Parts: sequence; C-alpha cells; structure tokens
Amino acid sequence: MTDINRYLGFARETALRAGSLLTGMASNFGKIHYKTNSGNLVTAADKASEALIIKAIRKEYPHHCIMAEESGACNGTDKEFEWLVDPLDGTTNYAHQLPLWSVSIALAHNKKVIAGVVYHVSLKELYYAAKCKGAYCNGKRIHISKTPALKKSLLVTGIPYSTREDPHDNFVNFKKFSLIGQAVRRLGSAAIDMSYLACGRFDGYWERDLQPWDVAAGSIIITEAGGKLTRFNGTPYQVYSPSETLASNGLIHKEMMSVLKH
Ligand code: IPD
Ligand code: CA
Ligand code: CA
Repeated sequence: MTDINRYLGFARETALRAGSLLTGMASNFGKIHYKTNSGNLVTAADKASEALIIKAIRKEYPHHCIMAEESGACNGTDKEFEWLVDPLDGTTNYAHQLPLWSVSIALAHNKKVIAGVVYHVSLKELYYAAKCKGAYCNGKRIHISKTPALKKSLLVTGIPYSTREDPHDNFVNFKKFSLIGQAVRRLGSAAIDMSYLACGRFDGYWERDLQPWDVAAGSIIITEAGGKLTRFNGTPYQVYSPSETLASNGLIHKEMMSVLKH
C-alpha cells in the first residue's frame, strides 16, 4: 500500500471514530462557550473530538505537525507533513440538534493538501479524496454537476462569524445570487457544503473568511471530483489563507466571478 493510501485510510478511520464520539455526546455536550462573539460557539464535544483526533495522529505519525481548530498549531519535527483538523464543523447546528455537522481531516505535504476526509455523520456519508486518485463517497466515485448555467444552478454559501464586525457582509451577494440562480442554501457546515458540491448536489459555493481547517479536506474533494476552486477574482486558491472561497462545477465559474465582482 502506498503512503497516500495509508494516510487516507487512517484519516477515514479517525473521522469515523470522531463521528461516533460526537454522536454519543450530541444530547449531552454540557455548557456552550463562546469564542470571538456570541455567534461563535464551542462545546465540550468539539474539544473531545479534537482530543481523540490529535491523540490518534500523535500515535500513528508522531513527527507530523498538526493545525487543529481548538488547540491551534502543534509543531512536529517533520515540517513537511501537517494535519489540518476541524473536529466538528457546524457546531451551531450540533448545539441545536440540527443534524448537519461533520468531521473534517486533511493532510498537507509542503503546504499542499494531498488527502482529505469529510464525514457527514447523520447521513453516514464519508467523503474522501487523495491527490490524483479521484474523490469518493462511501466507496463510490463522485463527480461535480453538469449544470451549464447560473440560472439553472443550486448554490450554497455561509455567513462567517466575522459578519457582525466586517463591513463586507455576504447579504448583498446572497440576494444577487438568489435572484439569478435557482436558489441559494445556507447549511452551516463549510465542509458539507464543499462535499455536496463535489458530488453534484450543489453547482456553486462561495464564502468569505474561512479558516484552513474548514476548507482543507473539502478543497481536495472538490478538485478530485472535477470541480474548480479559486479566489473570487479567479486567481489561485490558497488553502492556508482562505479569505475568499469560490468553488463550482467549472461551467458556471465565470458567471459567479462576475456576480462577486459587482
Ligand atoms: C463554521 C461552519 C460554517 C461557516 C463558518 C465556519 P464551525 O465552522 O463551517 O458553515 O459559515 O464560517 O466557521 O465553527 O462550525 O467549525
Ligand atoms: Ca469549521
Ligand atoms: Ca469546528
């Protein structure tokens, strides 16, 4: 087995374990705490899931670096490899018993993502991809949609926590895309949004102000499914500074860029 298959297998197994732990805690996660503002939640379940994932990485790959949402960066001696971990993507949904949340684990080599897993726990959908090996959901190859035009597209977006402080809010774009496309959805888990784009449920996705752990796994799942991922103006996407994320089936990308420009 090549290393990349081993990394991917490990990430899949760890995401499944984290998913079980989160399911077990879903009706008993204790007190909600707040991070940057009262819309930015964290629970004991986020922390327990992250602890499980970090422990597993430390055991299997003790020299690798880790960037995990709740505990920040953790340097290993092998600087080439870094795991990017969102132990619970969609915490607000989780805290409200809305079953739209996921676990996201990716591995980067020299800052380029080479493998990623998103586990949408309530649907038991395990999305994964490795560089040049295609994207899959529960063992079946997935592909982006063939929707040819924005007016026939179902889109998804997110509203970042910074909205309360940031003058560049997403509401103007939400309205514009709602009027041009078929509809816009807002699910509350960037990793699920990106996985659903990869398997063709959505045709386009845009969001501001995400973090590397939100997008790392989703980014490789999208590109390996045949999708396109850039900044809003079409320049190359940066997983490590995802201030703008624009993803699509490629066919509607230019139309989406032009809406985001005005
Ligand atoms: C959030 C979700 C949400 C997105 C936010 C993220 P969290 O992650 O992905 O969809 O709109 O910007 O921060 O906090 O639930 O892990
Ligand atoms: Ca997240
Ligand atoms: Ca999270």
